[in-house]
Amino acid sequence: MRIVLLGPPGSGKGTQAKVLTERLKVPQISTGDMLRAAVAAGTSLGREAKAVMERGALVPDAVIVGLVRERIAQTDCRTGYILDGFPRTAAQAEALDTMLRELQTPLDSVLSLTVPAEEVVERIAGRRTCRGCGRMYHIRYSPTKEAGRCDACGGETYQRDDDGEETVRRRMQVYTEQTAPLEAHYERQGLLRRVPGTGRIGEITEHLLQTLGV
Ligand code: AP5
Repeated sequence: MRIVLLGPPGSGKGTQAKVLTERLKVPQISTGDMLRAAVAAGTSLGREAKAVMERGALVPDAVIVGLVRERIAQTDCRTGYILDGFPRTAAQAEALDTMLRELQTPLDSVLSLTVPAEEVVERIAGRRTCRGCGRMYHIRYSPTKEAGRCDACGGETYQRDDDGEETVRRRMQVYTEQTAPLEAHYERQGLLRRVPGTGRIGEITEHLLQTLGV
């Protein structure tokens, strides 16, 4: 099962990808998580990505395509994967098409989560992430039991550096200009399925699974 999850910042791609990996037994490939790990580790990629991410801009296509190419070659991706946050530009989508053609492993589905802009802003403003295990919370919709502590591992929860109001506005603009047009790209390939990303997290997961026919 090879899936792309599309959707604006805060539409729930990461939340749904984490649940779907358990249900479908395939790994989540989140380019955002990979970049944040590189930033935390202080690698040269991390140093390059940090400033770009804090501006709400996109990391260069060649860097991202290289990361994904390496990741999907790993053995745990043989049975499939969920791409979360990739592709994000026409060049990335074309590079993915070429990569998958060469590997003879076509995509099964592209699921696009649709959420109104005002809800997305509220979700991002309230998002908290665990520094330890990466689990995601929302101060209103899915709060931690103890303030600032992850329910799963007890790690500290924090607000992402790129979740400030101005950066979020820029990320939304970048999404509209560069990523939303990919819906048409995948519609032409007959792969696009739009799924409402509003409502309860579990209901959205069931809708996604139904759409995938599993
Ligand atoms: P990335 O990490 O991919 O960020 P994003 O696409 O902007 O998406 P988010 O992580 O903000 O949101 P999400 O859709 O995953 O929502 P979530 O599940 O967290 O990228 C960050 C940056 O890295 C980019 O700006 C760019 O600089 C760089 N980058 C990454 N990939 C790149 C690429 N391919 N090319 C170039 N640069 C790249 O949910 C949000 C909140 O809502 C959470 O608090 C959650 O608990 C809550 N929530 C979720 N579902 C619901 C629900 N149904 N009801 C109520 N609350 C909900």
